[in-house]
Amino acid sequence: MSNNDVILPKDFPELKNDTFLRAARGEEPEHVPVWCMRQAGRYLPEFREIRAGKDFFDTCRSPENCCELTLQPLRRFPFDASIIFSDILVIPQAMGMEVQMLTGKGPTFTDPLKEPEDLQRLRAKVDVNKELDYVFKAITLTRHKIEGKVPLIGFTGAPWTLMSYMIEGGGSTTHSKAKRWLYRHPDSSHMLLKMLADVIVEYLVGQVAAGAQALQVFESHAGILGPVEFREFSLPYLRDIARRVKDRLKEKGQDVPMIVFAKDAHYALEDLSESHYEVVSLDWTIDPRSARERTGGKVSLQGNMDPCALYAPKEQISDVVRKMLEGFGTRGYIANLGHGLYPDMDPENVGAFVDAVHQHSKLLIKQK
Ligand code: CP3
Repeated sequence: MSNNDVILPKDFPELKNDTFLRAARGEEPEHVPVWCMRQAGRYLPEFREIRAGKDFFDTCRSPENCCELTLQPLRRFPFDASIIFSDILVIPQAMGMEVQMLTGKGPTFTDPLKEPEDLQRLRAKVDVNKELDYVFKAITLTRHKIEGKVPLIGFTGAPWTLMSYMIEGGGSTTHSKAKRWLYRHPDSSHMLLKMLADVIVEYLVGQVAAGAQALQVFESHAGILGPVEFREFSLPYLRDIARRVKDRLKEKGQDVPMIVFAKDAHYALEDLSESHYEVVSLDWTIDPRSARERTGGKVSLQGNMDPCALYAPKEQISDVVRKMLEGFGTRGYIANLGHGLYPDMDPENVGAFVDAVHQHSKLLIKQK
């Protein structure tokens, strides 16, 4: 297994725990499956050790490092799914933009897009198989090394979230530079969103070919849009991506569940439940019962404990989890946080969260 060129996306070990895939399809497995966004992250000392002294995107480009970082949380906790270690910003890089991860500052673009003319700087045709081959290799290697323990999720950023990074050049509180484009240059905005969607479709299809068993689309900056802007600049692309990916997979006899996470887009729950995704992932601002009512059994739900609840004592975490499970119910439900884990979180409390989901859900199912 040392030479990743000989690792092919076939003859993968048989899947032993399919609770996540069954819940994504609307079933009720023997316990509610659970995983955490950013489960591979700086809260783990072993993660910090591998990342130490290395450039973040160099780490992303090493299939061996990505594989190791993806497997680390599974050695500690009985998670029911894993997500490939990578980043959403590999797509702007594949389109020709330079992005660095600066300590204390986060992702930083050397030369962000300023005006519509700057779209000409982007590669008109992106060879996804060439530019993002390292992600596909990481997925294939990880599928072998995970030994069928749990399914492996592939992911992408959604067009609007990527567009906002490409224009802001990094993190932002107002996203006003990117939103300026929406109001001032709507045609160019659509042109950029369409370019991104085309790359994303190829990227997701490629991830499944490489071995991804589910796909999550992160629209992390949905909440910065209002309902009107969301319906014009985000939702059509989210829908288009799911439909095209599913069509392409169908042609190849493949079918994997797709998850959409539009953070803070509570106003769009009904629309999201009719957007060709099997699972809608929720942030913590949405009440579980009302989410069930508003999505009317059309999709499975994922989420949504406030990550900060992990700062509470373990008994309290258990209480919060029980209430969350009672609210969502145990069918068609994947437990997760409402966003990623933070670096200062205690791994022990993450373990308490996972155990609480398993224990309470088994009891709730037995009591039915
Ligand atoms: O475990 C997992 O969830 C898988 C890996 C994963 C990473 N990034 C690794 C990572 C995933 C799914 C992402 C997606 C991602 N990246 C998103 C969407 C999800 C979300 O959080 O809303 C976004 C917005 C990004 C862009 C990005 N990358 C940010 C804002 C940061 C944080 C910068 C900082 O300084 O805190 C990153 C860096 C990053 N990506 C880290 C990890 C584990 C931490 C930095 C490090 O390892 O040095």
